[in-house]
Amino acid sequence: MKFFIDTASLDQIKEAKDLGILDGVTTNPSLMAKEGITGYDNIMKHYKDICDIVEDGDVSAEVISTDFNGIVEEGMRLADIAPNIVVKVPMIKEGIKAIAHFTEIGISTNCTLVFSAGQAILAAKAGATYLSPFIGRVDDINWDGVGLIEEIAEIYSIQGYETEILAASIRNSKHIVDSARAGADVVTCPLDAILGLLKHPLTDIGLEKFLADYRKGNQ
Ligand code: G3P
Repeated sequence: MKFFIDTASLDQIKEAKDLGILDGVTTNPSLMAKEGITGYDNIMKHYKDICDIVEDGDVSAEVISTDFNGIVEEGMRLADIAPNIVVKVPMIKEGIKAIAHFTEIGISTNCTLVFSAGQAILAAKAGATYLSPFIGRVDDINWDGVGLIEEIAEIYSIQGYETEILAASIRNSKHIVDSARAGADVVTCPLDAILGLLKHPLTDIGLEKFLADYRKGNQ
């Protein structure tokens, strides 16, 4: 399973990269706004900065147009920033048309705002590179986000679809573990959820004891 970080923060991307486990980055207009990145030129430059840090990992950059021509035009400009840009397109009718077009011309896509297995089938038919089911937001309305990943993984495996399931809207470390069990190909997570995977009290207690015993024998 690949690990992406879901942020537009350059510091957090660098920290995840330094950990040695980073496979890519996902962003969206809300995450850009959270970092105070506004205006077309600044946004394009920020994507370039992200791509430079990630080097060859995939970087999802989201379009804000909702009509076919707008999505395609915007997507082409985003794809020009760097070879590792993946054009992130919303799960709407015009978005599916645009994904099919990008597939035809060899541009990678990430179909975002996915909340059902039916939407997942359509995106795979259009040839999306990645599919982003938002599991945290599904849980928020008292449905089963991880269950959705499981359902899509089963369908994709039966049908032989090549679209990679990218579990998104991850809120905690358990979402990462559960997504791995459910068959996600990728998780995109906040840095805290990634670092949370390190935590276990027995590790801390065990390490403290090993170091104390070493110190006793080596005074
Ligand atoms: O990856 C999608 C993500 O950024 C949305 O997360 O927490 O706003 O549902 P959230």
